[in-house]
Amino acid sequence: MPEEKTTTISVIKADVGSLPGHVIVPDCMLEILEEHLRKEMKESKLLNDYYVFNCGDDIELVLSHNRGEDDEKIHELAWNGFMDAAEHARKNKFYGAGQDLLADSFSGNVKGQGPGVAEMEFVERKSDPLLVFACDKTDPAAFNLPLFKAFADPFNTAGLVIDPSTTAGFEFEIVDVYDSKKVRMSCPEEMYSMLALLGTTSRYAVKRIWKKGEESEKERVACSVCTEKLNVSAGKYVGKDDPVAICRAQSGMPAVGEILEGFTTAHLVSGWMRGSHKGPLMPVARADASPTRFDGPPRVVGKGFQVSHGKLHGPRDLFADVSFDHTRKQCMEIAHYMRQHGPFEPHRVSEKELEYTTMPQVMDALKERFEDI
Ligand code: F6R
Ligand code: MG
Ligand code: MG
Repeated sequence: MPEEKTTTISVIKADVGSLPGHVIVPDCMLEILEEHLRKEMKESKLLNDYYVFNCGDDIELVLSHNRGEDDEKIHELAWNGFMDAAEHARKNKFYGAGQDLLADSFSGNVKGQGPGVAEMEFVERKSDPLLVFACDKTDPAAFNLPLFKAFADPFNTAGLVIDPSTTAGFEFEIVDVYDSKKVRMSCPEEMYSMLALLGTTSRYAVKRIWKKGEESEKERVACSVCTEKLNVSAGKYVGKDDPVAICRAQSGMPAVGEILEGFTTAHLVSGWMRGSHKGPLMPVARADASPTRFDGPPRVVGKGFQVSHGKLHGPRDLFADVSFDHTRKQCMEIAHYMRQHGPFEPHRVSEKELEYTTMPQVMDALKERFEDI
């Protein structure tokens, strides 16, 4: 157990079945997770609070506790809930039943076993606004641009310019999702080289962000992102790595509205149909996280809480607001335009990023017919 009095928020997610095809999690499966966690709250002291929601075909569990990150009991609790929901999905022949559960049984931590995890252990401030973001039909690097904007771009975040408690900037931890390497960089001092990495979305993703200052890391932690690549864990295509992220807002962190402002670019991300197409990331209310056009376009849902002594007050559905209509309209125009490219890059991702491919068969069939020039 940690020495300081801390709260830990673990957001653990998995796609264990949906309807029709890969569109949404059926309500009956969300109810299984609700019941699983309700029972846990009643019978033991493991959790302080929880919240269950979905973004498209992914179930998101927000778990509040005092056990720190990577806690075996918390991970096991999530794993068992996903197993129950997967079983129900199998019985009812829902699509992709059990898809993200790569192992038959739990082995101490859900990382590398399929589910995605973002966790943050922190010392609660006088008042602690906490935002949880969940994406569908895309990959972890989808957060690179919005998080860079929120925590590093003075044209996005006014606090970087006019709030003395924010002007020192932030530290970013960036991971190489293929090579299991990480690097910590300081912004604004290293902004340009940081952007060289973050702009390479096929390889690098933001993992964590801290506010600068004298306090401990558990006081300064501002953001935590799930960067697991399911395909890398499984060694083959088993669905997309639809990521989640946690951000703390206000009082020295970017304001709620500055963090949300980062999602107004309609920026292009990888994912969409068959995990193999570029399309705009559309911020939507949870009720609109129903990716149906060409299995998309990719979505992001945001849930805003106030954390108080481990209790999760709220949430507010953050993108359920008319001020995001303009971005949504832009996303729909971009989606329509990108679709006109059919199988052509850059709508279809590059050969290296393709998750389904017929290229080996095509090249094999043409092998004898290729001539030297
Ligand atoms: C994207 C996604 C879907 C599927 C597509 C084909 O992340 O999940 O676009 O890739 O619907 O699915 P299968 O291969 O299951 O028929
Ligand atoms: Mg699915
Ligand atoms: Mg999904």
